[in-house]
Amino acid sequence: MVEPTAIPAEQPGATEEAAVEQTLRPQTFEDYIGQPRMKKNLRLAIAAAKKRGDPIDHVLLYGPPGLGKTTMAGVIANEMATGLRVTSGPAIERAGDLASILTNLQDGDILFIDEIHRLSRAVEEVLYSAMEDFKLDIVIGKGPAARSVRLDLPKFTVIGATTRTGSLAAPLRDRFGHLFHLEFYSVDDIKKIIERSAKILEAPIKDDAALALAKRSRQTPRIANRLLKRVRDYAEVHGSGVIDMKATDEALRLLEIDELGLDPADRRMLKAMWDSYRDHPVGLNTIAALTGDEASTIEDFYEPYLMQIGFIERTPRGRIVTMKARKYLGLS
Ligand SMILES: Nc1ncnc2c1ncn2[C@@H]1O[C@H](COP(=O)(O)OP(=O)(O)OP(=O)(O)O)[C@@H](O)[C@H]1O
Ligand SMILES: [Mg+2]
Repeated sequence: MVEPTAIPAEQPGATEEAAVEQTLRPQTFEDYIGQPRMKKNLRLAIAAAKKRGDPIDHVLLYGPPGLGKTTMAGVIANEMATGLRVTSGPAIERAGDLASILTNLQDGDILFIDEIHRLSRAVEEVLYSAMEDFKLDIVIGKGPAARSVRLDLPKFTVIGATTRTGSLAAPLRDRFGHLFHLEFYSVDDIKKIIERSAKILEAPIKDDAALALAKRSRQTPRIANRLLKRVRDYAEVHGSGVIDMKATDEALRLLEIDELGLDPADRRMLKAMWDSYRDHPVGLNTIAALTGDEASTIEDFYEPYLMQIGFIERTPRGRIVTMKARKYLGLS
């Protein structure tokens, strides 16, 4: 059974947002825009697996939030026409939780583990052997009477998603046959995503407006969809309902999103770093203290794009605001 709707929207935010994210989620390779290398390789792996009648090898997807990892897990399940079971690292607290998930899988099922870098060590160890030879070793009883039993598991595929491969234990990483790093999207691809979403939302959009929106979407599909919805609201209230340049410009000005897609939080962070440390490297925790955010929020949400556009440089001793960023923001 294919149940792509079983994928939860894992981002914090309004439920309306979650529901719309769901309807905009591509279900096939055809609809999944961009990431050509990943698609080419996965298409091949799926064709070969189908021919042999086997599940595909385990897949690890990594990259910044909102680039399409969860979406790709759904696409793979759909293209393989298999069941999809969704869970996440923090949700599997004990080895027993994982054991019950694994023993309930059907032959060929896909187990999607989001935030896989947050699995505990004990759970990770059970997962390796299950991934490697589809066996589950469990201990029954306690003390001297305890004995270990080995259970056969159905053949299944793990799709792991993480924003950080660095935090993934090497033995676990090595169990994956396919590793893909999701890349930031080109403006062209983001524009296609915006046009596709606008069609689904039945919100007419002008070509130049789609391009302008694409440029300000931080090369990230989730952000593109979010901005599209905000601009659509604006066009419906203040305009004719058609998303044109005027509505796009005005809505983005209201959101204080600039030409490069930076919002007030990005600008505040860069300015605080520059004001306090100039061109000296700043540690992640210090940046977190400056802005009042969690270090993980900075690392996962703000930093990847700022590095992508060359506004922050990462050195072994910390992060530095680049000349390019200073010029853009007028910091002297
Ligand atoms: N390649 C794509 N083509 C079209 N739309 C996409 C694509 N990738 C992602 N999207 C859209 O962006 C939204 C966010 O994608 P998704 O939830 O898969 O990101 P993610 O990588 O799992 O993020 P996170 O790390 O936060 O879990 C989806 O709802 C989907 O509509
Ligand atoms: Mg996800």
